[in-house]
Amino acid sequence: MNRKGATVWFTGLPSSGKSTIARLVHQQLLDRRCLVELLDGSEIRESLSRGLTFSREDREEHVRRIGYVAKLLSRNNVIAICAAVSPHRASRDEVRRNTSTFVEVHVDCSVATAESRDRDGMYARARRGEIPDFTGVSDVYEAPSAPEVYVNSEVESAESAAWKVVCTLEMLDVLEMARPSTDSDTEALQRRLASLGYV
Ligand SMILES: Nc1ncnc2c1ncn2[C@@H]1O[C@H](COP(=O)(O)OP(=O)(O)O)[C@@H](O)[C@H]1O
Ligand SMILES: [Mg+2]
Repeated sequence: MNRKGATVWFTGLPSSGKSTIARLVHQQLLDRRCLVELLDGSEIRESLSRGLTFSREDREEHVRRIGYVAKLLSRNNVIAICAAVSPHRASRDEVRRNTSTFVEVHVDCSVATAESRDRDGMYARARRGEIPDFTGVSDVYEAPSAPEVYVNSEVESAESAAWKVVCTLEMLDVLEMARPSTDSDTEALQRRLASLGYV
């Protein structure tokens, strides 16, 4: 069971690994009997954000809607796990301001790596000019400058990334500690939070 709500916000290029890692975190939190909900941007584009395009205004609106739901959930002690490209720093920072305990997770990899993982051929279509405003090809991605969790999905496994997120939630007192925090990986996460002014 979690101690309080939080918004865990995955951001990164299409096919960087956001949904994969978010699903692992979601399952681990369910296993720990937490109150948790997964808000995946691509699924939300078929419901709450149906009809929105990939223009700057509509992308901002999409992020605002997910952020609004996350705010409602997290203030009711639910951990809202959100996974969305969310390419604009200002939009993410707006959600950060409107929620308490905002944990930004930057899933980073090169465009070439993301492209090589793309099962739906979206990058190829974007390269052929069939999809305008495609993040990483023909549209901007503004990386977070100080995310609570940084994942380089080119070198880290999805399992290791999920562990970093769960461990950070423990350090922020969202979750009870499930394991002793002595090894060097945990210390690196602690140093990161200290550098962000948490401890
Ligand atoms: N280290 C990693 N972390 C996350 N996903 C990875 C990693 N290495 C390879 N992958 C693969 O990359 C793909 C990422 O797809 P997905 O999670 O849907 O990306 P996104 O939600 O960012 O668009 C998946 O097929 C996943 O198995
Ligand atoms: Mg996804």
